[in-house]
Amino acid sequence: MITVRDIKKSYGTDSSKNLVLKGVSCEFESGEKCAIVGSSGSGKSTLINCIGGLENIDDGEIIINGIKINKLGNEQLRRFRRDNLGFVFQFYNLLPNLCVRDNIRVGEKLSKNPMDYGELLRFLDLERCEYQYPSELSGGQQQRVSIARALIKNSPILLCDEPTGALDSVTSKEILKLLETINKKYGTTIIMVTHNSAIPRMMDTTIMMKDGMIVDIKKNQNPVSAEELTDL
Ligand SMILES: Nc1ncnc2c1ncn2[C@@H]1O[C@H](COP(=O)(O)OP(=O)(O)OP(=O)(O)O)[C@@H](O)[C@H]1O
Ligand SMILES: [Mg+2]
Repeated sequence: MITVRDIKKSYGTDSSKNLVLKGVSCEFESGEKCAIVGSSGSGKSTLINCIGGLENIDDGEIIINGIKINKLGNEQLRRFRRDNLGFVFQFYNLLPNLCVRDNIRVGEKLSKNPMDYGELLRFLDLERCEYQYPSELSGGQQQRVSIARALIKNSPILLCDEPTGALDSVTSKEILKLLETINKKYGTTIIMVTHNSAIPRMMDTTIMMKDGMIVDIKKNQNPVSAEELTDL
């Protein structure tokens, strides 16, 4: 469903060029849960941003549902992202001057087939804070709003960059359980960058990166449930 073929990505100009992805290839099945791990600076965020069409690549190709996204023009890419991809970031990226309801609804009007707002609000246990602003919410609540904002578009793919990176272990587990339920309930493909060494145990696949390359891809025959994770 997602094929990443020998992609290269650099930052900077000729004289100070920094090759950050040095020929990365991997595949993701529809409905798969995948972790991307590796030390700081190894290129995890860059990879997920390239898959999400937030960064251009220098070489190689990224094919999502049969579409070569690296060949799309700006407007086509914007539409592709809108219809296919949801993003969840470590620091939530909510709009501070909009309440929960309006943050979630940002993407809704643009979507061809949005999820039911009320159902989503109940599902994410956000009904009580519908009219609060991000600064009035806990970290876990803010992350649930950002997940709601990603989900309301009904995206088949959720790209998460350290979604629990700013959360305590109890709240992390809550968010992971939620993502697990979303994966089961909607068949959403989840690709998650994480530093947390417990999280790969609940994933189907773990990709290990080092210095701009994939050094290992592990299939997990018996993923545990998020509930069972310890040492988060
Ligand atoms: N916008 C940018 N401009 C220039 N260099 C960048 C940019 N984004 C990332 N880099 C460089 O690319 C390399 C990989 O960065 P990346 O953010 O992908 O790492 P990471 O694995 O996500 O690290 P972390 O775990 O700390 O988030 C780093 O050397 C970083 O300095
Ligand atoms: Mg990163």
